[in-house]
Amino acid sequence: MKRLLMLGSMIFAAALFINADVSTAALKTGTVTDYTTGMAAGGISFSRHNLGSFGRVIRSGNTTEICVFCHTPHHTNTSMAPIWNRGNPTSTFTAYGPTIGGSTISTVGGPSLACLSCHDGVTTFDNIVNTPGKGGVTPGGVDRNWGFNMPVGNLFPGSDNVLLDAFHLAPSLNCVLYCHNAATKFDGELIASMVIGTDLTNDHPVSVAYGGGQKASLRDAATVISTIDLKGDLAASAATAYNNNLAQNRWAVKGFISDTATISDLLRDGNVECSSCHDPHFSNKSWDEVDETWLIAGPASTWCNSNEDCSDGLFLRRVGGNTGSGVCRTCHEK
Ligand code: HEC
Ligand code: HEC
Ligand code: HEC
Ligand code: HEC
Repeated sequence: MKRLLMLGSMIFAAALFINADVSTAALKTGTVTDYTTGMAAGGISFSRHNLGSFGRVIRSGNTTEICVFCHTPHHTNTSMAPIWNRGNPTSTFTAYGPTIGGSTISTVGGPSLACLSCHDGVTTFDNIVNTPGKGGVTPGGVDRNWGFNMPVGNLFPGSDNVLLDAFHLAPSLNCVLYCHNAATKFDGELIASMVIGTDLTNDHPVSVAYGGGQKASLRDAATVISTIDLKGDLAASAATAYNNNLAQNRWAVKGFISDTATISDLLRDGNVECSSCHDPHFSNKSWDEVDETWLIAGPASTWCNSNEDCSDGLFLRRVGGNTGSGVCRTCHEK
């Protein structure tokens, strides 16, 4: 009996192992059908959101830790996101203002400031409050002045100290021309698109109450997302295009791919925030359209092998990304 049990648990362990293996592979190069319900919405380690030295894009030489750029277990800044390890953004933001539906957005909420504490194009990535290891903390959750340690010397592919990624740096560019220059800060085709900036009047409203049934053709917040028919109004080919993308509508919610989540699960304190549409941990390889447009020529080709490997699918929560404007039409019944 004992033997049988042992064998059973070995088979179980093997099944778990195989399962874990498949999941990782899917997360690296997945189609819609690879992201099954119940699977963890992960992949941060090989995504742009790993700024530690085992990361691949923009990374520091000063720590191998991944979570530390956003979370720490103790002495956290409680004003933005759970166990948050970043100081408040150093910028002043202009909120969206009035909407056609009659909402007025005058402040930016914590969950969105969390993202903007890197994506404002001003606050530095090393603005963290509890440094890795025994580096110390600043009480009150403000910037510890820890150093990101941007690379010095050779920044180009093929060298060990290419800490800033090969993805952005063409040989004609250097630190000053590329980033550390007030006039051209974060300039360059791709990096510029990553900077949302401090003026939020030109971005989809955030920190706005979800007025389901009242404003902007918004569906009821209790709607189960997977029941929304996204293909009905489209050409017949939409039923099967991009791996049956529009025939299903599963989103990453609470860290897992879900077919039972409602729109409410996307809201933070009843509001739409950056994290309503994006999950910063979910390197979502299932948006085939965006993968196809990702450039692998030039410096980028030194670190990613295929277009799909280059993209994080814009960290969108929807499996299949924004194919057929599936993200937009999940909330807006347009
Ligand atoms: C680039 C910033 C960033 C990094 C790096 C990061 N997180 Fe997060 N994390 C966030 C934000 C923002 C939220 C709040 C998201 C929301 O409102 O859904 C969050 C929420 C969470 C949550 C609760 C919600 C959920 O999705 O499960 C867990 C658990 C979590 N993070 C774990 C981790 C771990 C473990 C790591 C390191 C492996 C990590 N995070 C790295 C930004 C980050
Ligand atoms: C209503 C949903 C929604 C909200 C809210 C939202 N985003 Fe996005 N975001 C998207 C979609 C969809 C894309 C992909 C756009 C595309 O097709 O390139 C995107 C793209 C991006 C990109 C890549 C640049 C680009 O335009 O392609 C960044 C960076 C980004 N979002 C950050 C943020 C931040 C930071 C916030 C909060 C201030 C935020 N997003 C709020 C839906 C949203
Ligand atoms: C610790 C800093 C940091 C935080 C916090 C952070 N990001 Fe990022 N994010 C980055 C960096 C660095 C990149 C890569 C920029 C580049 O390639 O130029 C990136 C890339 C992205 C991209 C592009 C992914 C792709 O497929 O190319 C999106 C979308 C994005 N972030 C959204 C968010 C959202 C939404 C949040 C909050 C939930 C957030 N980020 C929080 C640092 C951060
Ligand atoms: C998580 C739900 C959600 C998603 C997803 C979403 N929206 Fe919205 N959208 C809202 C809310 C909430 C408002 C604010 C409505 C109001 O209060 O007037 C809004 C407002 C708008 C407005 C009107 C802004 C104004 O000034 O009146 C437009 C246009 C819009 N969204 C387009 C989009 C597009 C395009 C997408 C996909 C990229 C999208 N939305 C995805 C929730 C969402």
